[in-house]
Amino acid sequence: MKVLTVVGARPQFIKACMLSRLFNNGSEIEEILVHTGQHYDSNMSDVFFKQLQIPKPNYHLGVGSDSHGRQTGKMLIEIENIILAENPDIVLVYGDTNSTLAGSLAASKLHVPIAHVEAGLRSFNKKMPEEVNRLLTDHLSTWLFCPTADAIKNLKCEGIEKGVYLTGDIMYDATLHYRNIALKHSDILSQLKVSPRDYYLATIHRAENTDNPNKLKALLTALGELDKSVVLPLHPRTKNKIEFYNLQKLLSSSNIRVVEPLDYFDMLALESAAEIILTDSGGVQKEAYMLEVPCITLRDETEWTETVQAGWNTLANSLDYKTILKAVSDIKVPNNHPLLFGDGATANKIYNILLAYKP
Ligand code: UD1
Ligand code: UDP
Repeated sequence: MKVLTVVGARPQFIKACMLSRLFNNGSEIEEILVHTGQHYDSNMSDVFFKQLQIPKPNYHLGVGSDSHGRQTGKMLIEIENIILAENPDIVLVYGDTNSTLAGSLAASKLHVPIAHVEAGLRSFNKKMPEEVNRLLTDHLSTWLFCPTADAIKNLKCEGIEKGVYLTGDIMYDATLHYRNIALKHSDILSQLKVSPRDYYLATIHRAENTDNPNKLKALLTALGELDKSVVLPLHPRTKNKIEFYNLQKLLSSSNIRVVEPLDYFDMLALESAAEIILTDSGGVQKEAYMLEVPCITLRDETEWTETVQAGWNTLANSLDYKTILKAVSDIKVPNNHPLLFGDGATANKIYNILLAYKP
C-alpha cells in the first residue's frame, strides 16, 4: 500500500516524524513524502528533518511564501501531478495549514481517500485561515484522527461521524519521545544565561496578532514590561511585521531576549523549564500542558479548550497590554493534571487503522 504524505510547515514536520518512522521501518506501507516548501528557511524546515531523522522528501515543491490563494493554488497544481504519477492509495495530511488544504483538495478531486491527523479542531472563527483549512479538510476526509473528545463532538455537530477515531495527539508522542533527549542534548538555557523557572518563554506568529499593528504593539509592550527575562524565538512572519510597522524599539527592552527560530530540542528544553509560556501557537499551547508549564494564550479563543478547563491555560488578548500583565500575575498552578492528549501511542493507532485498509 502506498501513502502519500503532504507536509510544508514547521509543526507538520514534528507531527509527521512519528508516523514516518513507522512507515519506513520495514512496513507494508510505502510512504511518499511531499514537502510543499511553505516553510523554507533552514531553521523552519531542514533543521527538523535532520534532528527528527525524517527521510528526505521524495518531492520538494519549493512553493515558498505568497498570498493564500496563490500559495495554495501552486501547491494544488503540483500535488495533483504527483498524485497522478504516484497513484497512492491514501493521501495523509496534518493539521490546518495551506499545505493541508492543498493536499486534501488535490486528493479529493482525484478520488483518493484522505487521512487527516488532528481532525475536528475548531476555533469557530472563520476569519482564521486555519479554520477554513481544517473545516474543508475534515469534510473531505475518509479517516479523521481526533486528538481529543471535544474534537469528536465538533465533528458530530457538523454531521461527521463516519471514519472518526479518537487516537490522542501525535504531538504528545513526539513530546514524550524527545523530551529527555532534548534535555540531554540542549544547552540553550546556559547559552541564553537563563535559569529554570526564572524566565518566560513567548512565541507570536498568528496573523490576527502580527498583521494588526496595534495588537502587535500591545503584545510586545506587555513582554517588555514583564518582571523576568522573556525568551522570544521570533517567527520570520513576526520579524517581518515588526520591521514593517517599525516596532523594533519595543524589542530593545532589557528583559526581552530575541532569538532566531529554535530547533525542536532547544524549544522543548526552554518550554520545560519556563516559569510561564505566553504564546499564540497551537502546538506550543499543547506542549506547555504536556510539560506541565502554565500557559497564557495570546488569543481570543483556542481550539485546545480542555487545557483552559483544566486550569493550565488562560486566554488573554487585548489592545491593552495590562490585560496580559494581569494574566501573568494572576497565574495559579493547578494541583491536578489530567491526561488530555491520549497515551502517547497515537502514531501506532493511526498506523494500524491505515494498515487495515484494503484498497
Ligand atoms: C503557517 C500556517 C499556520 C501555522 C504556522 C506554523 C497557514 C495559513 N498558516 O503560518 O497555521 O501555525 O505556519 O509556523 O498555512 N517566512 C519566511 N521563511 C519561512 C517561512 C515563512 O520568511 O521559511 C515568512 C514569509 O514572509 C511569509 C510569512 O513568514 O510570508 C508567513 O509564512 P506562511 O507560511 O504563509 O504562514 P505562517 O505565518 O508561517
Ligand atoms: N517550535 C520550535 N521552535 C520554535 C518555535 C516552535 O521547534 O522556535 C516547535 C514547537 O515546539 C511546536 C511547533 O514548533 O512543536 C509549533 O509550531 P508553530 O508554533 O510554528 O505552529 P502551530 O503549532 O501554531 O501551528
